[in-house]
Amino acid sequence: MLKDRFGRIHDYLRISITDKCNLRCTYCNPVDLPKGYFSGCTKMTVAEIEKMASLFVQQGIKKIRLTGGEPLVRKDAREIIERLSKYPVELTITTNGVFVHEYIDVFKAAGIKSVNVSLDSLNKKTFFDITGRNEFERVMQNIELLLEKDFYVKINSVIIKGINDEEIPRFIEWTKYRPVHVRFIEFMPFAGNDWSGGKIFSYQEMLKLISSQFDFIKLPDEKSQTAKKYLVPGYKGTFAVISTMTQPFCSDCNRLRLTTDGKMKNCLFSKKETDLLSALRAGEDIAPLIRQCLFQKEEAMGGQFTDDIENMDASAIQNRSMINIGG
Ligand code: 5AD
Ligand code: SF4
Repeated sequence: MLKDRFGRIHDYLRISITDKCNLRCTYCNPVDLPKGYFSGCTKMTVAEIEKMASLFVQQGIKKIRLTGGEPLVRKDAREIIERLSKYPVELTITTNGVFVHEYIDVFKAAGIKSVNVSLDSLNKKTFFDITGRNEFERVMQNIELLLEKDFYVKINSVIIKGINDEEIPRFIEWTKYRPVHVRFIEFMPFAGNDWSGGKIFSYQEMLKLISSQFDFIKLPDEKSQTAKKYLVPGYKGTFAVISTMTQPFCSDCNRLRLTTDGKMKNCLFSKKETDLLSALRAGEDIAPLIRQCLFQKEEAMGGQFTDDIENMDASAIQNRSMINIGG
């Protein structure tokens, strides 16, 4: 069992299988990413990803999420999904949706039940402004395809003040007719993403806006969940808020991360990384390294955040960009 100093049991691993993406979301994959972020990256091979996954499973991991960048741009994504489906874990994936139609049968065959699709706008032009690509219609079609094939579909929507906060009611209106589970995510700071406290559209602000237009009820919290879930009675889908910045949920965190270059991160905001891939390639036993890395996990937010989020200096935070960590 993977337990940290604070008694938190970690049974969820997010593996980034690529740091490449076909979209250019300003907050994740900025066009002017600081130099050095993509250079010299040795990505894990399919066999290495499988080996890592099996070692983590032996240590007590019960759920694995594949992330990127965009996981489906990796040419051997199919093989990775197929290989990991053989392990006794709940396998899931986070995708921007663009290539889902090419993988839908692979998802089914692998026993994937739930898919997270990132979508920050229901407006074609705003989608283009955020992602730099004209893929809105394809993504919407692929969301429908997932629903048709009975996948549980969560929609991740990063809300940035002045960019898409006004679309929140429209997203909720969407859940009236379609069984999608929309999650509004507070904007988080990462290297090069031009974050400032003033751009956060907070959990509080979201609820205020939503309650001015909808009557909704809170759904019960599940263990280690990041999203606070709500339902407008009678609607087919649900909505939720992921309040990472204003009300973090670190106290029962169960997640670990593996970057595409084989570094383990014990928190999305951890400064330190543990190089598992080099050790694996050198034939070393990586189980002690996994435990050591977990043992260094801070109580909250990688130990890097101040209480005064609004005025926090993002440049003082040491981390990679989101696309380089894996979402
Ligand atoms: N703030 C909040 N969420 C982010 N994501 C990527 N970058 C950020 C950020 N700066 C989201 C993506 C994806 C999920 C894995 O993380 O939209 O849906
Ligand atoms: Fe690509 Fe997702 Fe990052 Fe957008 S948020 S650039 S779709 S990885």
